[in-house]
Amino acid sequence: MYVCLCSAVTTDQIIQCVRSGCKDLDAVTKQLGAGLNCGSCIYMISDLIAKTESQDCSRAVDSDRFEPDDI
Ligand code: FES
Repeated sequence: MYVCLCSAVTTDQIIQCVRSGCKDLDAVTKQLGAGLNCGSCIYMISDLIAKTESQDCSRAVDSDRFEPDDI
């Protein structure tokens, strides 16, 4: 699922970015370019980072099952 439409960044990309060491919004946006245009995806990116980091994110980590309502 696309999280950032402006930069065509998906949930999978964000999850992999967090798992590879980008542990906060600033790091993820710099690494992927997500959230740097209109900014409407910032809340979703932040939520996905938190869920991925907390390991309490089985639904978020499974990008096929991630829904905006999870936020
Ligand atoms: S949707 Fe991500 S910056 Fe616009």
